[in-house]
Amino acid sequence: MTALESVKWQPVPGLEGVELYPFIRKPDIVSCNSYVLRTTSEMIVIDPGADAEQMARILEMVQQGVAAGLDATFYLTHCHVDHCFQIVSAYRSGGNGSMKLAVQEAGAEALMSLDPDLTQARVMGWAFPPSSLQVRCSSLLDARELTGEVSLGTKMDIMPTCDGLTLRRQMVPLDGGAMEVFHTPGHSPDSVCYLVGRMLFTGDLLFAADPGIAGQVGWNRDDLVTSVRNVLWLLRSREIDLCCPGHGRPVDTETARAILEGMLQRAGELGSIRTNDLDRIRFTSDYALDILMEANEAFSVLAGRLYYLSYYLEELEESEEARRCRECIESDKIDELLAKFHLFVEEFLQGQRVQLQVILKAIQTIQSIERLFRGTKLEELMDASVLRRTSRLLGDFTNAVKGLEFDIEMTTAQLDVLIERTIGTLASPPPPEEEILDAVGDDQAYLAALARRIAHLPVYDGMTFSVRKEGDADLTVRIDEGRFVDALCGLLEEYVGLEAREIVLRMTGGDRPTVTISADVKEKVLDQEKERSHRRRFELAGARLKNAEDPACLILEMEASGRDG
Ligand SMILES: [Fe+2]
Repeated sequence: MTALESVKWQPVPGLEGVELYPFIRKPDIVSCNSYVLRTTSEMIVIDPGADAEQMARILEMVQQGVAAGLDATFYLTHCHVDHCFQIVSAYRSGGNGSMKLAVQEAGAEALMSLDPDLTQARVMGWAFPPSSLQVRCSSLLDARELTGEVSLGTKMDIMPTCDGLTLRRQMVPLDGGAMEVFHTPGHSPDSVCYLVGRMLFTGDLLFAADPGIAGQVGWNRDDLVTSVRNVLWLLRSREIDLCCPGHGRPVDTETARAILEGMLQRAGELGSIRTNDLDRIRFTSDYALDILMEANEAFSVLAGRLYYLSYYLEELEESEEARRCRECIESDKIDELLAKFHLFVEEFLQGQRVQLQVILKAIQTIQSIERLFRGTKLEELMDASVLRRTSRLLGDFTNAVKGLEFDIEMTTAQLDVLIERTIGTLASPPPPEEEILDAVGDDQAYLAALARRIAHLPVYDGMTFSVRKEGDADLTVRIDEGRFVDALCGLLEEYVGLEAREIVLRMTGGDRPTVTISADVKEKVLDQEKERSHRRRFELAGARLKNAEDPACLILEMEASGRDG
């Protein structure tokens, strides 16, 4: 058996007389899949979830079972709110007192104290109903003797698995057999997997290394690696047909094995991950919003340039090349993806989504956009700074959600030389068209000439720049040159947007060398959102963006490095 039907009773393979009624949801993080099991004497619910409607249907089934004389117990794969919010709230509100809840010891403690971090309630922005009622949990896999009202009549042991590892197991008697509970921490300290017949209920184990999920409070890389190896051992040594995860479709053993092996391969990369706490989630979701804004701009510039290139090619009667160029990026599809993301962000701003969802949606969007870019010949066609900035943005964002460090290369640079070179490139006239025409006949030279022509930013035509330096000030600074130049170009484009005709860049030395940018405009250059995004870019480059009294004026401040530094 490799498939399960949602919301339908079906037999559990490998354990006669046990039936399963799964609730399989479209993957989301606001609730989870629930699995209701029924034997001749009891009902078991694995992960009742956080969806009120789903819970109402589960409760109806359980109450019918209880009325027919069945015993009922709710089991959690772990204590995250998306798996248990409804049942814990039911307890807290004083209702459903007859229901039993079983969760691994660390999770039981977290639920008793309603720990907002270990349960993920804080990052989801959820609060349990206030009440003095205790959550009545039975600890699973407790090193101490089981306590509480519920005796599960269970037996505990520690099994040797592979390569000297061990796996803690608890046997819960079930009509004609047993449900085995395995302690598989890593995603959270209390994560467990349940084996019933030939079905393994894996909770969030299969996604524990995914960006945005890895690094949550309570996450532990070493424990995760051990658990993954232990579950791989289980899949090898036991008869298991299907792995039923907490989110998304159940998968067959082969697929589960491939996912787990992929996790082991990526385990090294997860070594330096930062904790995905509220601060990081805020930072990343702010970044996701900035990316949306910048991606919109960047893609329209790219599309504009490709259009320009295809126009040239048409003029040169190279229709085939022109068509290839227009089809180079599927801008319609990119627009569609961005529009969907936009909608999602709006739902977030209206309070219908949480920050973590924005991040996960942004990851999905960015990955789809990257896929559309893959295999295109954009890099051959243009050496545009826009392309570089866009890919840097995508790279930074991916690292941010993965909790990895940014790719920053701090070096010693001569600020005046760097600024003059950057401005020199911006203000230079476009390469002459003859250069392109001369290259016709030599495909590579022709494309290179076209690329140079296109890389030239016509936006600065007719604009004057003056670069001034205070005396013989020492302007040796420590920055990431590539990032700084990209950030500066991005900032200067904002002045273009305000129709500035004259931009002055004035440099001063000292402990903190500065560049003061001013222009012949009256308005404030950056609104709040843009300021945040530019400030972040400069920060990553090693510079601080500051406002001046004059609204048209912005200051960049850097660390001096000393001529020998
Ligand atoms: Fe989870």
